[in-house]
Amino acid sequence: MSMMDKKGSAEIRVNNRTLVYPLYAGTEGEQAIDIDKLRKETGLITYDPGFANTGSCASGITFIDGEKGILRYRGYDVIDLAQNCEFIEVAYLLIHGELPNRQQKAAYSHLLNQHSLIHEDMIEFFRHYPEHSHPMAVLSAMAVSLSSFYPEMSGNYKEEIEMTVTRMLSKLRTIAAFSYKKSIGEPTIYPRHDLSYCENFLNMMFDSPLCEESYNPTMINALNKLLIIHADHEQNCSASVVRGVGSAGANLYASISAGICALWGPLHGGANQHVIEMLEQIQAEGGDVDKVIERAKNKRSPFRLMGFGHRVYKSYDPRAKIAKTLCNEVIASTNKHDPLLDIAMELEGKALADPYFQERGLYPNVDFYTGLTYREMGIPTDMFTVMFAIGRLPGWIAQWMEMKKDPHGRIARPRQIYTGSTARKVIRISRRK
Ligand code: SDX
Repeated sequence: MSMMDKKGSAEIRVNNRTLVYPLYAGTEGEQAIDIDKLRKETGLITYDPGFANTGSCASGITFIDGEKGILRYRGYDVIDLAQNCEFIEVAYLLIHGELPNRQQKAAYSHLLNQHSLIHEDMIEFFRHYPEHSHPMAVLSAMAVSLSSFYPEMSGNYKEEIEMTVTRMLSKLRTIAAFSYKKSIGEPTIYPRHDLSYCENFLNMMFDSPLCEESYNPTMINALNKLLIIHADHEQNCSASVVRGVGSAGANLYASISAGICALWGPLHGGANQHVIEMLEQIQAEGGDVDKVIERAKNKRSPFRLMGFGHRVYKSYDPRAKIAKTLCNEVIASTNKHDPLLDIAMELEGKALADPYFQERGLYPNVDFYTGLTYREMGIPTDMFTVMFAIGRLPGWIAQWMEMKKDPHGRIARPRQIYTGSTARKVIRISRRK
């Protein structure tokens, strides 16, 4: 087992038999029972809906301590990275395993700029999406379409992987900006070789022939930090989808396209859009935060407090702390006041003081404050999850590459417990009641 040490064994007693399985530990002391031989030896499987108790792999990319609210990429704390790095340094770290030095960063930045254009024929695609198309649908479709324009990654050559990964990192950002411009009927703004990754994105989004958009450093700094806090999060839903699709031998473009679709879900990355819509609804209905909290606690209602709760964090999501600080900084820099921020802060305060949320370890997650910051940057609500995808891309890529290199890697294919009809004979239609 790569990266794990054998730590003894675990005994499971079932049907008067004692089964002994190896116990492994990772570098942070997390332990797992290796049940690789369980079904072969006993005919039994484990049952774990949502995989809350199931490790799908050993990974050296990201470590989360949900109880202590710790998040580290390749050993570096996310707060440390957000304070001291640009997003492309963190993307390099996740994909290559180490932070780049000055020369490596310059070369990476140049490579990303070299691959920032998309094939002109792809621009034609945008013209045929209906205006109201959700940008996540466009992003997923365009991501997999890249495989039609750029050779599929055969996975045998280091430089080919490097090229494909850089293409994906650079072009997805361009596709996102182009899809926004198309949705508002404005001409697309092409990437520029003299701008940084984040500045290029803001320029492609907001520049226009009528006005040269100059971005205050706060916006560029905020975007770098926002993309960094989204860059990876171990085996979350969309990363598991990227690994799963890749485990079948599908190429990187197809795997990322599937990950984008998983992220779109409101229980996952789509929550950042739903947080704003929830805050806007509270505002429209007179700002009654208590009513929304009661609705979220009502077991008969499917409503959840968007931006709250997490499968792993049972304490404050460290990314939410960074996002909250950024939100206040960006709003202060615009000299505007956003009433939704007041509602968000009141909602957070009351939920954190409520026993229902305390007993369940429900805290604000990464999605609670990020939407308010994107809003202040002028990014439309339906693009918030696209921003999440741009940030998460290096993490998905790193997870996919690690899966490809895993010597124990197999196609992802869980089992089930069947609860349907037992065997029965077909009655021909002429005699069927
Ligand atoms: C992301 O996995 C990742 O790492 C994801 C992510 C990443 O970076 O990739 O961190 C990004 O997806 C963040 C989460 C964004 N989603 C939301 O904000 C949607 C609202 N939150 C929830 O739907 C929920 O908290 C989840 C989906 C995030 C987690 O779901 P779980 O782990 O399956 O939790 P659960 O449904 O088992 O809830 C446990 C209890 C339940 O109550 P009881 O049955 O014990 O009485 O907590 C309650 C739930 O009803 N609960 C909530 C709640 N979240 C959980 N109650 C009200 N509002 C909420 N938001």
